[in-house]
Amino acid sequence: MKLILLGAPGAGKGTVAKLLTKIDGSVQISTGDILRGAVTAGTDLGKEAKGYMDAGDLVPDELIMNIMGERLLEDDCKNGFLLDGFPRTIPQADALKELLVKLDITLDMAVNLDVPRDVIMDRLTTRRTCSNKDCQAIYNVKSMPSKVEGICDKCGSETIQRADETEEAIGNRLATYNEKTAPLVEYYLGEGLLLNVQATSSDVAVAEVTKQLNV
Ligand code: AP5
Repeated sequence: MKLILLGAPGAGKGTVAKLLTKIDGSVQISTGDILRGAVTAGTDLGKEAKGYMDAGDLVPDELIMNIMGERLLEDDCKNGFLLDGFPRTIPQADALKELLVKLDITLDMAVNLDVPRDVIMDRLTTRRTCSNKDCQAIYNVKSMPSKVEGICDKCGSETIQRADETEEAIGNRLATYNEKTAPLVEYYLGEGLLLNVQATSSDVAVAEVTKQLNV
């Protein structure tokens, strides 16, 4: 499958993407994970991105398009991909459209995960993420705890709270989402690609996507 996953911070894009990868081997491409990996590795990209990310602001479009232009050329994308957290602005969506035409790739759908704001606030403050950059499993102390508190079930590394999970940064991420990313729902409706799903349950969201795609 070749999908875009849209949704506010905490809507469950990462969780749903990980479930979908198990169905047909499509690869999850999370710009947030790529950027956090660059910050941890201390690369030039990471140094440039860190300030924006910690404050809950978007990283400049040009940086993101450089990353994605290269990432979509990698071999593992041939089996399909789930774009998690990209595109995030209308200019990114326009640039992606051009890039896909150049690569002769057709998207199946843009799936919007729709979750009420109070649920989102609760999820983000209780999320824990595996600190191992090659794992990055997602947990939730309330709804999806690891078996041993603070330890990843999959790789045994420590689970941590992300740097952008302070209340102030979460508030800014939600405001940025409303201003810059929410208009993409209309954009993909206009492109005839939108599937809107109520995503208070990730399993229901996955079932709706697979039903639409017949997989
Ligand atoms: P990014 O990493 O993309 O963060 P985000 O969009 O804010 O999304 P999240 O990862 O917070 O949420 P999610 O929807 O994946 O939710 P999850 O599945 O974890 O971006 C981080 C930063 O990088 C940005 O702020 C920006 O600075 C930069 N950036 C990234 N991409 C960019 C771009 N394209 N352009 C510019 N800048 C960019 O779920 C959340 C929690 O809820 C978890 O604890 C999970 O266990 C729980 N949960 C999920 N589903 C359920 C459910 N059904 N029931 C109960 N609990 C659930």
